[in-house]
Amino acid sequence: MKGIVLAGGKGTRLYPNTIVVSKQLLPIYDKPLIYYPISVLLLAGIREILIISTPHDIDNYKELLGDGSKIGVKFEYVVQQEPRGLADAFILGENFIKNDSVCLVLGDNVFYGQAFSKLLHSAIETAEKYGANIFGLMVKDPREFGVVEFNDEGRVISIEEKPENPKSSYAVPGLYFYDNSVVEIAKNVKPSERGEIEITAVNNEYLQQGKLMVTLMGRGMAWLDTGSPKGMYKASGFVKTVQEMQGFYISCIEEIAWRKGFISSAQLRKIGEDLKITEYGQYLLSLTEDRK
Ligand code: G1P
Repeated sequence: MKGIVLAGGKGTRLYPNTIVVSKQLLPIYDKPLIYYPISVLLLAGIREILIISTPHDIDNYKELLGDGSKIGVKFEYVVQQEPRGLADAFILGENFIKNDSVCLVLGDNVFYGQAFSKLLHSAIETAEKYGANIFGLMVKDPREFGVVEFNDEGRVISIEEKPENPKSSYAVPGLYFYDNSVVEIAKNVKPSERGEIEITAVNNEYLQQGKLMVTLMGRGMAWLDTGSPKGMYKASGFVKTVQEMQGFYISCIEEIAWRKGFISSAQLRKIGEDLKITEYGQYLLSLTEDRK
């Protein structure tokens, strides 16, 4: 399976922070926001990753992440000229996806929770077997999201995009697993009222074909909002608190690459050395010392 991180958009809800800097490059506490979705792909064992961003920002991502060899993965890059909607990721990514299945993670989605890797691996299996695996997660106010509708037997009957009157409290987070037919499905999606080719339309097509599985994430899963300055500030506080309490870092891509065996201890130490004036660098160095 391949992975796509969509890091486009204008980030207007975060202006003036994002007038010149892409939202997904802003920090959540001690690392750029995009590290968090990348870590999700790494935890899923996905090592071929496409980063999609705007003509203005793509070079910054290339400078930050390079070709991926430092962490034992392969990053490729594609420009999205205009924000046409999330499903555009599969059209822009067609040559990258080739005949493979694919996971899309939105560049501003932050997840943290117990047994997350297991959940990701089973989502890959499910998508490759049935067609699509997305998630449902209970939120206080689902109106800003895709929302899952269930019938009395608990079967999914529709997904609605940003409904005024949500039919459940289960929002669809920005993490989607699909088989290869997603490329053709995306190409046939008609733009919505807001002029976007919606991921929700893709999901509804899989649903109609009887190929959509919705896995519910339990309340132990933290899905952090980064849609506003307040959300980003709170997410930073969450990461800082957990990291200081446990001594383990959240979404540290170099650590995950090392634990997964994508890079050796010597490679991890080299990255740590380069960053050693920071706590982040010291953390990387400490990992190989104590074999935590
Ligand atoms: C998008 C999707 C929505 C999903 C959300 C998750 O919304 O359209 O279905 O629930 O991401 O972050 P957007 O961020 O484009 O408003």
